[in-house]
Amino acid sequence: MKGFLGTQAGLGADLNLLIQVGMGIALIAGAFLARRKHYRAHGICQSAVLVLNLALIFSVMWPSFHLQVFPGLRRHFGKRYYAIATIHGVAGAVAEVLGLYIILVAGTNILPQAWRFRRWKLWMRIELALWWLVLLTGIGVYAIWYRV
Ligand code: HEM
Repeated sequence: MKGFLGTQAGLGADLNLLIQVGMGIALIAGAFLARRKHYRAHGICQSAVLVLNLALIFSVMWPSFHLQVFPGLRRHFGKRYYAIATIHGVAGAVAEVLGLYIILVAGTNILPQAWRFRRWKLWMRIELALWWLVLLTGIGVYAIWYRV
């Protein structure tokens, strides 16, 4: 089905793009909640983004990667179509896993003491910066794939 942004992209890609940009902004808003010491609201906001993103990875991005990138990856890695999607996918997977790990440490008691970090602020800042890097490379994927 054709997308609604007037590019060559389909509906899934356009929706993903819009929701991803919204989620990137929500994470920044969530960081400000923490700054104002609204820790519960901060935790809910950041966790909601992570879970929603997990759904988008499994419903849109992983299937697309599997279908459009994997088969030609070895032969065409030098081409920017494949290179940007691979860099984006690997960094995106790291950002998602790191985010889930932060939720486990900050929001639960599941992990043993030795697996928990203490410098919460540092790790959350690293995660936010990485996330935005992934978001920007995702916008790059969209621009290159659909010739914006
Ligand atoms: C923090 C995590 C992630 C963020 C913020 C993110 C963000 C984005 C954005 C903004 C787009 C452009 C919209 C689109 O073309 O659909 C995109 C596309 C894409 N992403 Fe991600 N992404 C993340 C994780 C991943 C992961 C883990 C993979 C690897 C499986 C991946 C693979 C792709 C692919 C293949 C596309 C092109 C989809 C298409 O247009 O058909 N992304 N991503």
